Amino acid sequence: MRTIDWVDGAVEIIDQTALPDSLDVLRLTTVDELVDAIRRLAVRGAPALGVAGAFGVALAARQFAGDPGALAEGVHRVETARPTAVNLARGARRAAARLPGGFEAVLAEARAVRDEEIAASAAMAARGADLVVELCGERPRMLTHCNTGGLAAVTGGTALGVVTELHRRGHLASVVASETRPLLQGARLTAWELGRAGVDFRVAVDGAGPFLMARGEVDAVIVGADRICANGDTVNKIGTYAHALGAHRAGVPFIVVAPESTIDPDTPDGAAVEIEDRAAGEVVAGLPAANPAFDVTPHDLITAIVTDRRTIRPPASTA
Ligand code: MRU
Repeated sequence: MRTIDWVDGAVEIIDQTALPDSLDVLRLTTVDELVDAIRRLAVRGAPALGVAGAFGVALAARQFAGDPGALAEGVHRVETARPTAVNLARGARRAAARLPGGFEAVLAEARAVRDEEIAASAAMAARGADLVVELCGERPRMLTHCNTGGLAAVTGGTALGVVTELHRRGHLASVVASETRPLLQGARLTAWELGRAGVDFRVAVDGAGPFLMARGEVDAVIVGADRICANGDTVNKIGTYAHALGAHRAGVPFIVVAPESTIDPDTPDGAAVEIEDRAAGEVVAGLPAANPAFDVTPHDLITAIVTDRRTIRPPASTA
């Protein structure tokens, strides 16, 4: 099942706000509906956002045909629905470059973005599993953060795709899914995907990760990315940096898995990335709260970045 696709004239997404309680599919036919779904995290995760951006421009091309001002405004709203994952703007811009060819040309480009993400997931799973076995041996105990499975892509996923590939090969000892406060992408979505894949897992509170590493219970940490900067600094879900610090202290490999579409050579380093701040109500009711959705892991804490085409070992440049 695909997390996002174009089906019978609409964008269909799995509603990730309803999981794990129910598996609902939403049909989105307007730019407003798509932008709202992105902001509510009904569709989320960098590769899936890239596909959503491209299909969103197709919706705009159909909805605002013959009204260039409204079309430009619609494309801009799709592109900027969330600021941090580079895939969203990149997918939207790629589809928008086909606007002179009309709706069908835009839709064809959006389908190409989708197909490339499906192929990228398969390539990352194979390369990432090989690397984990090379670094940690044949029965690694893994820790992952946020949700980086098929739900965050179209099918397959990034870091979680590597975990499930290790399981498929019979090379996975165990996995800890960090719960990922405040929206629980780990406890809700990763746990749901691991359960469906038949993988034994434990959910841990985010703060437990570094201690589990210190106690010798984790052989490798594996995460995805929302944007990888030119110098290898990696922006990912809030809590990732703490896991990287814990891994560094414990001498545990810290592996980032992301498609080439998440590498942003135009952003020199993590300090240049706009980090999305979300509503206080997601964290606590009735109190002021700090709620950055992402953090920056400096490149020197990263053992390897696995993409669909290569393995980068920082400080080697991502160019
Ligand atoms: O706020 P979210 O749920 O969109 O954040 C998602 C993440 O941070 C993922 O780890 C990242 O996009 C990689 S997904 C393969």
